Order: sequence, then structure tokens, then C-alpha cells
Amino acid sequence: MDERVAVVTGASSGIGEALARAMAARGTHVVLVARSVERLRAQKARIEAAGGRATVVAVDLSTPGAAQRLHDEVTGLGLEVDTLVNNAGFGFFGPFEDEAPGHLGEMLQVNVVALAELTRLFVPSLLAKRGAVLNVASTVAFQPSPYMAAYGATKAFVLSLSEALWAEYRGQGLHVAAVCPGPVETPFIDAMGAGVRSTPVFRTALTVDEVVRACLRALDGTSPTHVVGFRNWLMAQGGRFSPRALTARLSAALLTPPTRRPLLPGAPS
Ligand SMILES: NC(=O)c1ccc[n+]([C@@H]2O[C@H](COP(=O)([O-])OP(=O)(O)OC[C@H]3O[C@@H](n4cnc5c(N)ncnc54)[C@H](OP(=O)(O)O)[C@@H]3O)[C@@H](O)[C@H]2O)c1
Repeated sequence: MDERVAVVTGASSGIGEALARAMAARGTHVVLVARSVERLRAQKARIEAAGGRATVVAVDLSTPGAAQRLHDEVTGLGLEVDTLVNNAGFGFFGPFEDEAPGHLGEMLQVNVVALAELTRLFVPSLLAKRGAVLNVASTVAFQPSPYMAAYGATKAFVLSLSEALWAEYRGQGLHVAAVCPGPVETPFIDAMGAGVRSTPVFRTALTVDEVVRACLRALDGTSPTHVVGFRNWLMAQGGRFSPRALTARLSAALLTPPTRRPLLPGAPS
């Protein structure tokens, strides 16, 4: 029987690290992708100690041409990939003008450009092996997200691309799914920026295990969209029925950073 091979981006930390371990435990040879080569090597050693198979490919996905380099390296190793997990990503929380233009460009490159290019490059192999693409989106994909405006827009792209490709390829044996978590307790949250934890949205977070279970269900299932957690599902649905301007204003009310909140009358300044 053919070996099952999955490329997992962002496998050095958080959701990607745990998901790669879970997939390896199910017998999949996992190709671990991120920049932190030492963390990836440690992850490979843990997987192999548990009887699994792993290969490390260190790539900075924020650089132009990174997807092609990753694809060439994986195929050069003779690995025939049946599953692509596009999980690498990062965000920014705060007023739009506070995000450094270089940070914004790198975020678009990792969250959007590399994800789309990797999917395009691996599709022939995924179709041949009747495999799957799993894209890690977010609940912010469902509505505009003031103070995470560009990050939210990257995830709206991921969700839209995933659902469209699901419909394009479902008759050809290739399954495409997007997993949409709300906040998850990983290094991602604090890397978003100061004040993010004081917003109502980020006060409760999912565990990494909950998200990994949803990812495995998404890979095993047939539907394109998987919101993780009932409360997150309700919030994702809410935006569908209210006027877009109202949805954007409600999102702003929930996400305004403490430095931007108007002081209540009589509050000490
Ligand atoms: N945590 C949340 O609240 C949350 C909620 C919804 C969706 N998500 C999404 O979940 C995904 C995983 O995030 P996480 O929470 O697990 O965060 P995390 O622990 O910070 O992990 C992010 C991963 O992405 C990799 N990465 C970042 N920049 C990269 C680059 N330029 N090139 C290659 N790899 C890069 C990181 O590896 P290196 O730093 O080693 O390169 C790391 O492995 C992201 O797409 C995120 O948007 C997270």
C-alpha cells in the first residue's frame, strides 16, 4: 500500500505542531515546514521516537518564490504528497496604521500568496492520489474584523478559496476543507499585539487539542467548512443575517483596543 504523505506548514508551534504529531500517529509521513529548524528537528525526533515518520523542510514562506522552493524540495525527495495542510500564518491586532508595512506585506505573503501557490503546485499530486487540502482559516473569515482588518481579510480569502476549490474538485476525488477556529491558546495570540487579551472575543480560547480534533474530522469528512466550537459557530452565523455595516460596527465594538476605547463619563483620565 502507498505511503501516506502530508505537508504541514507551521509545524514548529501551536496547532500545526500538534496536528502534525496527530497525523504521524495515524501513520502518515509528515513533512514539517516552518522557519525554526531546531524546533522542527526536535519535533521530528519526537515523532520518530513514537514510531512515526517525519521529514524537516525549513522554509520562510514570507519570501517570494517560497512555495515553489518548498514544492521542488519535497518532490526532489521523491515524496508523493496526498495531503497539504496550509496552517502557517500570523496576524496583527491594533489600529491599521500601527502595523508596519513590511509586517503587513509578509502577512499577506504567508497567509495568502504562499497558501494559494502551494495549493496550486500540489494539486496535480493531490488529484493523482485522491488526497486532501486542509486550510486553517479563522472565524474572522466570516465578517470584517476592525483592528485585525488585514488579518481578517487574509482569512476571508482562505475560506473563499477553500470553499470554491471544494466545489471544483469534489467530483474528482480531491477533498478541500477549511477549519475556522476562534481564539486558540497558542503563541499566536500574544504575537498579535498588546491589548488583544482585553477584548471580549479573546477572553475565552479553545485548546489546541479541540482544534486538532476538528482538523482530523475535516480531513476525514466531506464538507468544506468547519467552525470549531458552538459559540464560534453562532458568531459566524450571526454576521450572515445582519446588514454588513451593522456587522462591521458590532465587530469594532468587540475588538476595539483598550487604547482606542472612549472613556466613560466620569472615569478618571
Ligand atoms: N491561535 C489562534 O487564536 C488562532 C485562531 C484562528 C486561526 N488561527 C490560525 O492558525 C494557524 C496556526 O496558528 P497557531 O495559533 O498555531 O500559531 P503559532 O503557534 O504562532 O504557529 C504559527 C506557525 O506558523 C509558522 N510561520 C509563521 N511565519 C512563517 C513563515 N514566514 N514561514 C514559515 N512558517 C511560518 C510558525 O513557524 P516559525 O515561526 O518557526 O516559522 C509556526 O509554526 C495560523 O494560520 C493562524 O492564523 C490561530
